[in-house]
Amino acid sequence: MRIKDGSFVVTGGASLIGSHVADQLLAEGAAKVVLLDNFALGTPAAVAHLDGDSRVSLVKGDILRTADLFDAFKGADGVFAIAGFLTLPLSQNPSLGLAVNVEGMVNTLEACRYVGAKKVVFSSSIAVYGEPEGDAVIDETFPANLAGYQPGSMLYSCSKLIGEALIKLYAQKHGVDGIALRYSTVYGERQHYRGVNALTIIQNYDRIRRGEAPVLPGDGSEVHDYIHVADVARANVMAMASDVSGEALNVVTAEETTVKRIAEILLDITGSDLPIEYYDEPKAVKATSSASLKLSRDKIERVLGWKPEVSIEEGIRRLTEWRATQPD
Ligand SMILES: NC(=O)c1ccc[n+]([C@@H]2O[C@H](COP(=O)([O-])OP(=O)(O)OC[C@H]3O[C@@H](n4cnc5c(N)ncnc54)[C@H](O)[C@@H]3O)[C@@H](O)[C@H]2O)c1
Repeated sequence: MRIKDGSFVVTGGASLIGSHVADQLLAEGAAKVVLLDNFALGTPAAVAHLDGDSRVSLVKGDILRTADLFDAFKGADGVFAIAGFLTLPLSQNPSLGLAVNVEGMVNTLEACRYVGAKKVVFSSSIAVYGEPEGDAVIDETFPANLAGYQPGSMLYSCSKLIGEALIKLYAQKHGVDGIALRYSTVYGERQHYRGVNALTIIQNYDRIRRGEAPVLPGDGSEVHDYIHVADVARANVMAMASDVSGEALNVVTAEETTVKRIAEILLDITGSDLPIEYYDEPKAVKATSSASLKLSRDKIERVLGWKPEVSIEEGIRRLTEWRATQPD
């Protein structure tokens, strides 16, 4: 699909990821970008920088209300299905979170079928794999291993697996092309406090700015695959532009970064010599807490030609520069 001159809808348009997808679409010459959000979690502030761009409309709408979708999707070539509840808000309100992640996805795909939108790019998650076992490299064929997951994470994983199955179903039965993108831990400018794994970055940056020591769980050896939101946005737009359909693709750096390394980068960027403090919080809601997380990005590189471009040092520098301009 051609992005230039195309017409697109982003559900959850006021989200961390949605706002960056909008930026990428506009940079590539899209003619129309509708940002649909009910502001349950996001706020119009996330897309305030797009005010005044005549190609953009911010629509207050709910993916649980099909009428909202039919109106907003009219004339769309493609839809980015980004609206959703992450593990933390889903654990806090499972009834609404499951409705949004599951029923909201059905509604989104139904509306695509109804208006004749050609393609959907769905925001899934590496949470669909569950707890990694041993040292295996996780590619898209890896089976879900959810038995050891905390209940909130398990519900979130299951809701994303259902979303992926719906994407495949609508591609097979209704000719709505679709791709599921499985992100690792997304961080970057306009970062919020809802992504449990990215909290380490923003909370510790805020602590250091207040003159407080960064705090880390355990001995700081917990690893994550941190992917910058600009790389995630680029993957979304490349997925929309491609002819690939019915596939799930990891959107990951394939690099393990310890939370200790994150704290060191933050201390380095801020020029602080505060000591790192460690704590134990076994009951915290966590998506993953592994000492090893080996993810493969071979498939997306092969089928879309996508590779991450923003290093963790550069990404954290961008995030902290943005955060420094925000009120406390
Ligand atoms: N942030 C991550 O690390 C990460 C990792 C993997 C997958 N994802 C997925 O990517 C998507 C976006 O993540 P994010 O971090 O930008 O999240 P976010 O919390 O910033 O965005 C979710 C958006 O969806 C909107 N929303 C919620 N319910 C809605 C409804 N009923 N109708 C319309 N809009 C609604 C919220 O207001 C919010 O703006 C989510 O689906 C999430 O599950 C995120």
